[in-house]
Amino acid sequence: MDTESTAVDETESSVSAEPSGDQPDSGVVIETRNLSKIYRDFWGRKKVRALKSLDIEVRRGEIFGLLGPNGSGKSTTIKLILGLLFPSSGRVLVFDQDAAETSKNERVGYLPEESYLYRFLTAEETLDFYGRLFNMSGAERKRRVDELIKLVGLQGAKHRQLREYSKGMTRRVGLAQALINDPDLILLDEPTTGLDPIGTREMKDLILALRDQGKTVLLCSHQLADVQDVCDRVAILHQGELKELGRVSDLLKVQDITEVHAEGLSEEAKTEIAEVIKRHGGNLKSIDNPTATMEDLFLNIVRESEARPGARRVTGGPATGETPDDQTEAADASNDSEAAQ
Ligand SMILES: Nc1ncnc2c1ncn2[C@@H]1O[C@H](COP(=O)(O)OP(=O)(O)OP(=O)(O)O)[C@@H](O)[C@H]1O
Ligand SMILES: [Mg+2]
Repeated sequence: MDTESTAVDETESSVSAEPSGDQPDSGVVIETRNLSKIYRDFWGRKKVRALKSLDIEVRRGEIFGLLGPNGSGKSTTIKLILGLLFPSSGRVLVFDQDAAETSKNERVGYLPEESYLYRFLTAEETLDFYGRLFNMSGAERKRRVDELIKLVGLQGAKHRQLREYSKGMTRRVGLAQALINDPDLILLDEPTTGLDPIGTREMKDLILALRDQGKTVLLCSHQLADVQDVCDRVAILHQGELKELGRVSDLLKVQDITEVHAEGLSEEAKTEIAEVIKRHGGNLKSIDNPTATMEDLFLNIVRESEARPGARRVTGGPATGETPDDQTEAADASNDSEAAQ
């Protein structure tokens, strides 16, 4: 990992951003122009060059991902967009206004990397507090707080103080807080950190739902699979420099490989297909059953367990001793006897 690794006096360079020649886009929500940030020490001496000449545009209604190793400038970019930090050079425009213009933050929601929530308030009190900051009326706050607590799945814990919350629960309150003002632009710094696979899936579905409502989401994350699942476009930073920017589907497309998915093929049909590929000069890599993701497997097991509490199905056991089938049957038998009691 390369934290603090950006040299201060390097020559600035940048990868110029993205599809330039397309139609004039009035739907740009965030625009950074030649954006640089140097952190200085107490005496004003340059300490870390965190961001170098960043040019990106985030468009209305898209989910945009900022990726990069630790210390690559992701959180710095988000703080510059919020106006919490000032650029050393260059500009950030949000809704066509300078990021330093704090009035624009009424339309922005922010989930920080670390929670800064007051530990002795309950989830309900926390959200009510943030609702007051946005001058929401009592009735409006009540409606919005109930709605958000439900949305992030904290109904059962809403009267408990945040100091008793797990990491994932705290993340959920953080997200609810970021959405209290029904923002048009949502900035999420590591939204899935601390969430279990179910919480992660819910968070991803929620982010996709926000986009369906026409919101714009900018998120940064180390969870590449999550980014791949939800982001329309990504920017990859390294040591404060933009290294890649584009649509996820384009960046990940493997050229010159054709994928066909079919159901119910006989062995004979597969052999025939292999022959056709050979006849056309193709190089057959594999004809195989696709594997599911670990996420799918995990979620299916949890759902099954919720539907059939106590049931256990072991499909791959120890290398010696009982066979997997023995174990499955043994588990099922013991469950049946438990169920019968
Ligand atoms: N307040 C600060 N004072 C001095 N240097 C800072 C400050 N905040 C960040 N930096 C430095 O700026 C660089 C970029 O940090 P930033 O937090 O933006 O990275 P990041 O991509 O969000 O990393 P992570 O994945 O670890 O969250 C790092 O070298 C970091 O040490
Ligand atoms: Mg960060």
